[in-house]
Amino acid sequence: MLIILLIAVGLLLAIIVGLSLKLRQLSWTLNTKLNDIDRAFGQIRKQLGALSTSIESSANETQNAVYLSQLDLTMPVFMGGWSIDTFLGKFLVQHVVESRPKTILELGSGSSTVLIARALEIVGIHDCTHIAVDHEPKYLGISREYARLNGLEDRVTWLECPLRHYDEFDKLWYGGLLDRLEGKKIDLLAIDGPPGPIQRHSRYPALPLLKRFLAEHCTVILDDAGRDEEQEIVQRWGNENPEFKVDLWPNGHGIAMLTR
Ligand SMILES: C[S@@+](CC[C@H](N)C(=O)[O-])C[C@H]1O[C@@H](n2cnc3c(N)ncnc32)[C@H](O)[C@@H]1O
Repeated sequence: MLIILLIAVGLLLAIIVGLSLKLRQLSWTLNTKLNDIDRAFGQIRKQLGALSTSIESSANETQNAVYLSQLDLTMPVFMGGWSIDTFLGKFLVQHVVESRPKTILELGSGSSTVLIARALEIVGIHDCTHIAVDHEPKYLGISREYARLNGLEDRVTWLECPLRHYDEFDKLWYGGLLDRLEGKKIDLLAIDGPPGPIQRHSRYPALPLLKRFLAEHCTVILDDAGRDEEQEIVQRWGNENPEFKVDLWPNGHGIAMLTR
């Protein structure tokens, strides 16, 4: 009788141990599966976040395009690619309307030139010195033609300044420009050239070289501020010129604004 009882207890213990091992295994498997599901949800959350940012950005671009279409250009200009995007386009037009700059210098002519010139025309500013600089005669010519087709050519001073080497920066930058700015006090400086790909920190020389031509209260805009190099340029400008307030907008190509 005792032997039977011992065997039964032994069997029971074996069953309990077996079951608990099985349960532990099941709980490990369950844990792994839950971790997998959690990871998958994390990925989905990330993708949904990116999708929602992209949808919001497209919606904003559409709004910007509608805003810019009200400029009623005879010949529409290209936005995006090498040109400014709609975020900067809208920003520049709003800046002209709200700040009414008297002297504007653009480094890198194009759609931006036509939009600024049209905004100046609409708000009735006829005494603004609006200078558009380009190192490439071809692109200066294209910008000028778009301005002509919109009846704006004569409102802009078109400067062809081939790039030359500036030893102090070891960089190519606009040759002959500084001599042509004597006596100017720039209210709005829009920097969209020289092109980033031609050299590292391509647009850095703009502020150190042009600072002496800036009005006491002025706005400096740098396009493509979403790029790492442009952010490094802005950081350096900010450190070297603490009197400027620096703002960055990540939308589109990215815009950096320095004001004082
Ligand atoms: C970033 S772009 C300037 C764009 C201008 N602010 C605009 O809104 O259209 C800088 C320079 O690139 C050159 N460029 C413009 N379009 C180009 C193209 N499709 N291919 C190569 N260079 C171009 C021009 O010399 C221009 O000054």
